[in-house]
Amino acid sequence: AQETVSMQVNAKADKDKISRFIYGHFAEHLGRCIYDGFYLEDSTMNVPKQGRIRMDIVSALKTINIPLLRWPGGCFADRYHWSDGIGPKDKRPLRINSTWGMVPEDNSFGTDEFLQLCNLLNCEPYIAGNVGTGTPQQMSDWIEYLNFGGKSALADMRRANGHADPYKVAFWGVGNESWGCGGDMTPEYYADLYKRYAAFCLNYPGAPLKKIMSGANADDYNWTEVSMKNVRPNQMWGYSMHYYTIVNNWQHKGSATNFNEEEYFKGLKSCLHIEDLINKHSAIMDKYDPQKKVSLCVDEWGIWTDPEPGTNGAFLYQQNSLRDALIAASSLNIFNKHCDRIRMANLAQTVNVLQALVLTQKEKMVLTPTYYIFDLYKYHQDATLLPVSFFSPDYKYGEESIPAVNASASKDSNGVIHITLVNIDPKNKITINTSFNGAAFKTAEGQVLTSANFTDINTFDNPNKVKPAAFSDFKKNGNELSINLPPMSATLITLK
Ligand code: AHR
Repeated sequence: AQETVSMQVNAKADKDKISRFIYGHFAEHLGRCIYDGFYLEDSTMNVPKQGRIRMDIVSALKTINIPLLRWPGGCFADRYHWSDGIGPKDKRPLRINSTWGMVPEDNSFGTDEFLQLCNLLNCEPYIAGNVGTGTPQQMSDWIEYLNFGGKSALADMRRANGHADPYKVAFWGVGNESWGCGGDMTPEYYADLYKRYAAFCLNYPGAPLKKIMSGANADDYNWTEVSMKNVRPNQMWGYSMHYYTIVNNWQHKGSATNFNEEEYFKGLKSCLHIEDLINKHSAIMDKYDPQKKVSLCVDEWGIWTDPEPGTNGAFLYQQNSLRDALIAASSLNIFNKHCDRIRMANLAQTVNVLQALVLTQKEKMVLTPTYYIFDLYKYHQDATLLPVSFFSPDYKYGEESIPAVNASASKDSNGVIHITLVNIDPKNKITINTSFNGAAFKTAEGQVLTSANFTDINTFDNPNKVKPAAFSDFKKNGNELSINLPPMSATLITLK
């Protein structure tokens, strides 16, 4: 069966910009994300490197224009003491990563190494400060170390550690998941703590902070209500929300590679549920912040499956399939659509952890299907949102159904229009007849990410199985396009 959908793109719209920070990423001291991921444990390993930073990973992430990287956690952030991770490495204390697997944390990757990594990536750093076990004094000192350009003991310490100029870190998280691993707090208690800590997070000359409040877990609307009621919009730049796609349940999440159509359907259904959460959290935010000054930051999202068999369960290492790429593509379409409120999102977690973009095995590196979604979608970064309207056909499984198609469109500063379209249906092609209100274009080009099976993955032995390919199954008729979306696909159309 082949369904046909009429889609209208409002190419005259110029109200909302898709912040590039929606395309952000997250790197925690967890499993093999930092150590044996971004940062070599064996500095003699034969890979491109700068110091111990893996440059093959850096260059892959630069290709997708990574705009922002969040660090050091996650849950790890609320047990992390920044002063452990600066200065000569042989003087840094050996700690235990008590959050993730009780493994040694030698602190060889600390603040200066993270900022060096961001500099190499040409991206903005986003640091999550410690509210759980740290004091306001420690948080305040960390910011002075980073951002103060004048003379002070802490700024001089930064200079002695090799960085004369202030780093001008802007994005600053005041705690992480304060409702859970960050301290198991009530929203009332955390709102007060937020204000206390935030009061001592100073804006140094030329380095204003964008403070981000630790927000709700998934559908905890009371957390948002209490936070927005107690903290004024001018006391925060952003308010976070975390949501993970879970196929079955938190105890038995399901395999990353070995799943059937029922689990494929459930994964996509769980992913699309994020739009309901965004609508409801946004409505509460609108009540207290009708001008939408506070950004909603989905600073952790992605699919969380069972770890790969044979790996350390605390390391959260999972493979990444075509299904996961469609989850990323659909999520990004949703974030784009809500860019009037969502101005940051961070996929969890860049390398070797959860829905990673990059997997490594000794000197080998593989780019996952999810990586290629960020490559296809990078054109939306900082472009103007062009609202799209259409009625999606259903993808039915058993008694249930979800919309088969999702899409978003934007216009960049050169007037080039990009449309990203997802067809979740695993069996049926869907034809999209697209008309544009207010745009004329001469050429149309396409790229598509798809594969024969939704379980298809890229492995170290077969790294190019799921990769974008040129796409030409569309017809241009004046300023209208008829596009045939293959089953299980994410498609980029570029109009000039
Ligand atoms: O991303 C893994 C963990 O998930 C993070 O540390 C935490 O914030 C969330 O619960």
